[in-house]
Amino acid sequence: MKTKAAVVYETGKPIEIVELDLDGPREGEVLIRYTHAGLCHSDVHISHGDLEARLPMVLGHEGAGIIEEVGPGVTRVKAGDHVVCSFIPNCGVCRWCATGQQAICDMGATILEGYLPGERFPFTGPGAEKNYGAMCMLGTFSQYATIHQNSVVKVDDDMPLDKAVLVGCGVPTGWGSAVNAAAVKPGETVIVVGVGGIGINAVQGARFAGAKNLIAVDPLENKREKAMELGATHAVATAAEAMELAQSMTNGNGADKTIITAGIVTEEIVTDSFNATGKGGTIVLTGLNKLSVDNIKLPGSIMTLFKKTLKGSLFGDCNPTTDIPKILGLYQSGDIKLDEIITRTYTLDQVNEGYEDLLNGKNIRGVLIHEHS
Ligand SMILES: NC(=O)c1ccc[n+]([C@@H]2O[C@H](COP(=O)([O-])OP(=O)(O)OC[C@H]3O[C@@H](n4cnc5c(N)ncnc54)[C@H](O)[C@@H]3O)[C@@H](O)[C@H]2O)c1
Ligand SMILES: [Zn+2]
Ligand SMILES: [Zn+2]
Repeated sequence: MKTKAAVVYETGKPIEIVELDLDGPREGEVLIRYTHAGLCHSDVHISHGDLEARLPMVLGHEGAGIIEEVGPGVTRVKAGDHVVCSFIPNCGVCRWCATGQQAICDMGATILEGYLPGERFPFTGPGAEKNYGAMCMLGTFSQYATIHQNSVVKVDDDMPLDKAVLVGCGVPTGWGSAVNAAAVKPGETVIVVGVGGIGINAVQGARFAGAKNLIAVDPLENKREKAMELGATHAVATAAEAMELAQSMTNGNGADKTIITAGIVTEEIVTDSFNATGKGGTIVLTGLNKLSVDNIKLPGSIMTLFKKTLKGSLFGDCNPTTDIPKILGLYQSGDIKLDEIITRTYTLDQVNEGYEDLLNGKNIRGVLIHEHS
C-alpha cells in the first residue's frame, strides 16, 4: 500500500513529505494506522545529526493509532485494537525484560537503524537507497506503518488517542525520570532543568511523588508558567539560580534530586545541576546531546565525599507494558494532566513548522493529527 510520511534524507536539511510503499505485516508484525504523533525533541536530534541514525528515516517515535491487520503469530493485539506505541520495544524474555527493565530491552538495539528484526524494512521509496528505516522502529510521522507487535500496548477503546499519544514517550520518560530514576520521596527538594515535553512530566511526576519544594528551571517564561500551573512551587531561569534557591530551603544542603531534561544537555547544565544537588543526592540525566559530546566533567572526589549519584535514564526506567496503562489510569483519575500540556496540533504537512515551534520554545508539546483518505 501507499503511505504519506515525513522523511529525513540528509542531516541539517528540512524534513520532506513523501509518498512511500509499505509492505504488509509478516510474522510478529502489525499494520497500524497512526491517528496521532507527538513532536519530541529526539526526532530533531536525528534531523540535526546529533543522534547518528541510518538514513533515509521516517521520523516519529511518539504515536498512537489503530491496528488494521496482524501478521502470523501475533498474540498481543488484534485488528481494531487501539494502541499506544512504545519507543522501545519489549521482547519480554531478554535479560532486561525478564528483570523488569523493559526500557533497555535488547530489541531496542536497532532503534536508530530503524529496521525491524531480521533487517527488514517495510518502508521503501524513491532515491538511491530504497529501504527507509523508521525512527525507533515506529515511524509515527507516517499515516500507516508496519511495526513489531512488541512495540504496541493495547489501550481501552474509549481512551482519547489524541491525548494518550503522549504516553508513547514524553510522559513516561519525564514522569519516570522523577518517580523511578530519581525515586523522589515525600518532603524532598527537587529541581527539574528544562520544561519541554519531557520536563513538564518530570514536574508532574515529582509532584505526585510528594516533592515539598519543586523548582522548575527554564530560560523561557511560558515554560516556567506551565511548570507552576502543573505543580512546581518555584520557577527560575537557570540551574545556578535553582542552586541558590534549593540551598536556601535546605539549610545550605541543596536539592535531594535534580532531573536534567533540557533539549541539549551541555557541560554547564550538568555541572550546575551537580552543584545544585546536595549530600546523598541524585542527578538524573534524561536529556541528550550529540553522541560524541563529553558533557560530563565533574570533580569525582566531591562526588565521593558528598555521596552523590549521577545516573542516566532511558524511557524514565519505565516498563511500557505495565507503565503505559498505569499512567493512562492516572490521567483518568486527574493525577496526570495531558490536555494541558498539548500546546498546538499540526497536520503531517506542517511537521517542519511544528519543529520550528519546538526549537523556538513555543510548545510544551505539539501533536500531529494524521489524515486518512
Ligand atoms: N532519555 C530518554 O529516554 C529521552 C526520551 C525522550 C527525549 N529525550 C531527550 O530529552 C530532551 C528533552 O526533550 P523535549 O522533547 O522535552 O525537548 P523540548 O525542546 O520540548 O524541551 C527542552 C526544554 O529545555 C529548555 N532549555 C534549553 N536550554 C536550557 C538550559 N540551559 N537550562 C534549562 N532549560 C533549558 C528549553 O527552553 C525547552 O523548554 C531532549 O534532549 C530529548 O532528546 C530523552
Ligand atoms: Zn521522545
Ligand atoms: Zn527484552
